[in-house]
Amino acid sequence: MENKIVNTGSAKLTIGEDSYDLPIYSGSMGAPAVDVRALHKLSGHFTFDPGYTSTCSTESQITFIDGGKGQLLHRGYSIEDLAENCDFMEVAYLMMNGELPNKEQFAEFDEKITSHTMLHEQVERFFHGFRRDAHPMAMICGTTGALSAFYHDETDIAENEARDLAMMRLIAKMPTICARAYKYSIGQPHVYPDNSLNYAENFLKMCFGVPAETYEVNPVIAKTMNKIFILHADHEQNASTSTVRLAGSSGANPYACIAAGIACLWGPSHGGANEACLNMLQEIGSVDRIPEFIARAKDKQDPFRLMGFGHRVYKNFDPRSRVMQKASHELLDELGISNPILDVAKELERIALEDEYFIAKKLYPNVDFYSGIVLSALGFPTSMFTVLFALARTVGWISQWNEMLEDPSQRIGRPRQLYTGAPARSLVPMDKR
Ligand code: SDX
Repeated sequence: MENKIVNTGSAKLTIGEDSYDLPIYSGSMGAPAVDVRALHKLSGHFTFDPGYTSTCSTESQITFIDGGKGQLLHRGYSIEDLAENCDFMEVAYLMMNGELPNKEQFAEFDEKITSHTMLHEQVERFFHGFRRDAHPMAMICGTTGALSAFYHDETDIAENEARDLAMMRLIAKMPTICARAYKYSIGQPHVYPDNSLNYAENFLKMCFGVPAETYEVNPVIAKTMNKIFILHADHEQNASTSTVRLAGSSGANPYACIAAGIACLWGPSHGGANEACLNMLQEIGSVDRIPEFIARAKDKQDPFRLMGFGHRVYKNFDPRSRVMQKASHELLDELGISNPILDVAKELERIALEDEYFIAKKLYPNVDFYSGIVLSALGFPTSMFTVLFALARTVGWISQWNEMLEDPSQRIGRPRQLYTGAPARSLVPMDKR
């Protein structure tokens, strides 16, 4: 990665009698940033930004989001174009290499991925250590981290070849791990990868195929699965990607870094929102109960929030939710499924978007609002929703992790704090306390 930020001016910061000139850097798109790296050395002051609402943690060239416009680009291509026209592995190639592959490049990349889809047979035993009712996110988090015990030839991640191998293995094996977690939770035998199928088809067969029967891929379901993977692939410096970058900044094993990302994604405020959103829609149950839940979402005394609504960056529609909404209609129509929850979701969206509270706070449906409906129609239980998010986001995490390691300005991440604890004091021995 070549650093491309440019100095486009300077900011003057005055503290008491002293003033400090801080450089302003700009990227190719988006807001400029004040470079505060030297601030503490110059002024003895830190910046204070819990939740990093106004902080750029890095330069990146992979994903751009314009929250005001509801725009999402991956290496300059809109999420709408990619989701409608690409294979998920094409998007993976784009994120990792910066350009869409031609036919030869795609074939070579796809072959590399396909040749790593199987898991070491010993990994099988990890699943049998879990209770059958273990949450699949717990299983994939533990198993992905455990892969670091199986692959020592990538511990030297400074080596490009070792790093590439780790990236191929993680992208290739995540569907196998996720499918096995699902099969284990329903007591069915694991289905081995079928390398004659594409990425989405192979995952569906490992989830819904059984050794006793031939599995026929439904092209509509496979196309929808492929689209869902693309919609969840990457999203700039979100919480789980920042977790992967921070873990990776210490030089940690790539499998451990991705396991850290899975752990962070699991939270209901982040990737866990798709599972929480469907559970919420099912709890609402019917259109006439929507006002009660809208009131709860607005009540400061009530911790309830409208799952699938709101976003730190988007203050307009999340473009992914529009693609997901369209996919939900197409899939339900194609499969001849009428799902009353979809009616509840549409009415909830309509009411919320007309409500002053949501308008004032610029709360719109995000990627998680419709995804649960689509994933249910594909046949997945709610406990698998965040697992599917993690499967797809592995491509983004890997791309961001690799970009960080290639960034000449990369250093170990180590934020500071404002300390408000006890001042220095002498210790009194216990028999005198
Ligand atoms: C993802 O970062 C990413 O890019 C994430 C993601 C990705 O692809 O990686 O896009 C995936 O995580 C999408 C978000 C999924 N989470 C949810 O749907 C959970 C519900 N949403 C919220 O918890 C919330 O909106 C967040 C966590 C998404 C964003 O939180 P912020 O940016 O910290 O905003 P906030 O909590 O400060 O909210 C601002 C105001 C608050 O009210 P005030 O304190 O100003 O009075 O809006 C309110 C909040 O109470 N608010 C909501 C709300 N979301 C925010 N009120 C009701 N329902 C909601 N959903």
